[in-house]
Amino acid sequence: MARAALLHLLRYRTASAAAAAEPLSAFRCQLMTRSNSKTPAAGIKWAGFCRPFSSKAALNDVIGNDTDSSVAVMEPQEQVDPFSLVANELSLIATRLRSMVAAEVPNLASAAEYFFKIGAEGKRFRPTVLLLMATALDVHIPELSPPGFGDTLTIDLRTRQQRIAEITEMIHVASLLHDDVLDDADTRRGVGSLNAVMGNKLAVLAGDFLLSRACLTLASLKNTEVVTLIATVVENLVTGETMQLTTASNKRFSMEYYMQKTYNKTASLMSNSCKSVALLAGHTAEIAMLAFEYGKNLGLAFQLIDDVLDFTGTSASLGKGSLSDIRHGIITAPILFAMEEYPQLRAVVDKGFDNPANVDIALEYLGKSRGIERTKELAMKHANLAAAAIDSLRQSDDEDVIKSRQALIDLTQRVITRNK
Ligand SMILES: *[C@@H]1O[C@H](CO)[C@@H](O)[C@H](O)[C@H]1NC(C)=O
Ligand SMILES: *[C@@H]1O[C@H](CO)[C@@H](O)[C@H](O)[C@H]1NC(C)=O
Repeated sequence: MARAALLHLLRYRTASAAAAAEPLSAFRCQLMTRSNSKTPAAGIKWAGFCRPFSSKAALNDVIGNDTDSSVAVMEPQEQVDPFSLVANELSLIATRLRSMVAAEVPNLASAAEYFFKIGAEGKRFRPTVLLLMATALDVHIPELSPPGFGDTLTIDLRTRQQRIAEITEMIHVASLLHDDVLDDADTRRGVGSLNAVMGNKLAVLAGDFLLSRACLTLASLKNTEVVTLIATVVENLVTGETMQLTTASNKRFSMEYYMQKTYNKTASLMSNSCKSVALLAGHTAEIAMLAFEYGKNLGLAFQLIDDVLDFTGTSASLGKGSLSDIRHGIITAPILFAMEEYPQLRAVVDKGFDNPANVDIALEYLGKSRGIERTKELAMKHANLAAAAIDSLRQSDDEDVIKSRQALIDLTQRVITRNK
């Protein structure tokens, strides 16, 4: 993420925050003391902000006010279960996905099975976000009763938006299959990884197969702008993964570079698919951009918490996670922040982590530092930016629209409070 773009976003966000006369829902903000920390990326103050935005202090936070030393923790007051709102549609999508990945070739058909093992565990986070986004942007789930004349258009549009959810899920699973090959992973979420069970070659081909099916579905939408967005996602995924393999140390230790890579590897899929949902509905560039910002910031928050969980696991204590990133020599935000406080950690990282003793030393520095805390703060920052994008949508009186927006905002909080 380029610094200029980020600054632009923050300015833009500040302006729309001011414009948002009334927040979507009341949130309780608890102010937590936060010692003054250095900016993680590009010299922007990452003090948290809490809605409602009408507060001057909150606006100061967004534009970077050095004097403020608190970060906001938001707790939703009313819970809408995001998954239940779209449960029926999700099962529809699951059925379609199953038929879409049915292959003549038996070996590839086994990949489909893997696909659904993950799906069952992963709660289909991405399709859920996209379906909620569709409603949040005022495209309704059509009634199941025979459609009247006027409904046909809505049904067609909603179906096309469902296709985006399917494409996104296929690209996501394809990238997991390929990641597992690159990382030589044995398991994924407790299930044997496809490469471990059926070998690397088949796992790569299965990933390619899913991508090819995603391409066909994408083509069927006949929208070149959306094709471009999704093609960019695939390019971002590939470049992000490649950079992770080959990065020179000056880049490996740069927080800004890390955020860019995280965008490419994780957030690009969410941001561009959210934008696609908006574009299919014929929304303006401005609304499409808000959808994009929601997906991007949600994706970034998600990955930052992932990076924390890799160290802490479910136990919230250091070293109880799988430590798979650091063992693979992948340096993530907690270590980058720790290195800012303890520059001597850099020499440890340079030696690599083939020797488990080095992992222990790094963990020791991480424990002494505010690395975990600052990573969580940064995740919270992005979660709040995602929520702010939803709040910036023009107000609606429609109950479904309001509920879906609330659910999207709740998701931003779930992402940062999850512990698995
Ligand atoms: C910074 O924030 C504090 C507290 O929110 C406020 O009193 C002060 O005026 C702000 N400073 C600037 C330069 O906006
Ligand atoms: C992110 O992706 C873009 C386009 O694919 C590429 O130009 C850029 O170098 C990538 N950056 C990182 C850090 O992966």
